[in-house]
Amino acid sequence: MAAAFQNKSHGSQQTTAASVEMKIRDATEADLPAIIEIHNTAIASRISTAQLEPVTVEGQREWFHAHSPTQYPIWVAELEGAIAGWLSFREFLPRCAYQGTVELSVYVSEKFRRCGVGKRLLQEAIARGPQLGMHSLVGLIFGHNEPSIALFHLAGFECWGLLPGVARVDESPRNLTIFGRHL
Ligand SMILES: CC(C)(COP(=O)(O)OP(=O)(O)OC[C@H]1O[C@@H](n2cnc3c(N)ncnc32)[C@H](O)[C@@H]1OP(=O)(O)O)[C@@H](O)C(=O)NCCC(=O)NCCS
Repeated sequence: MAAAFQNKSHGSQQTTAASVEMKIRDATEADLPAIIEIHNTAIASRISTAQLEPVTVEGQREWFHAHSPTQYPIWVAELEGAIAGWLSFREFLPRCAYQGTVELSVYVSEKFRRCGVGKRLLQEAIARGPQLGMHSLVGLIFGHNEPSIALFHLAGFECWGLLPGVARVDESPRNLTIFGRHL
């Protein structure tokens, strides 16, 4: 699962139009510290996730082992020898009629944002979802998470729902949007 892409910028390092190889692969437990670091940066941003407290490697081991390469995998995007981002799948709703509909989350290191990593991970999910028994993908995204909403739109997701004010983030009411795409 490798793809060449145009690397536009890595933070302060401008590597305009450099062609860099990105590899998408199943995450291993050794990737957990990098996954957690990326996750914690997103938690601190207050726009990305309803998880509001930082997570730890030890605390996330059970979450990690609840995924497998054939059911609800976790993938990492590897770039320049670093974990640039990750994508995880999880059950959408427990009733069997929803089995082929899967929720996904995507997180990219701040160092590698706007390099096409998130787009590439979503493309991989769309391409490989049917082989994993998925017919529909759903992303639950805060209404104020503009980067994520722009990314999901770009990947062909549509807004299927809005749950107004269902979240409280630092006392402020926040909307939850449901973005979906059939495969
Ligand atoms: C949302 C997120 C995953 C995007 O990842 P990324 O690798 O930076 O996105 P890409 O480089 O693939 O961007 C693809 C397109 O998405 C849109 N996009 C991405 N980030 C954007 C931003 N900050 N503002 C506006 N549009 C944005 C753009 O259309 C972009 O294309 P362009 O760069 O050619 O204009 C990343 O910002 C992130 O990890 N955020 C924190 C975690 C999060 O919110 N996850 C969503 C919960 S599921």
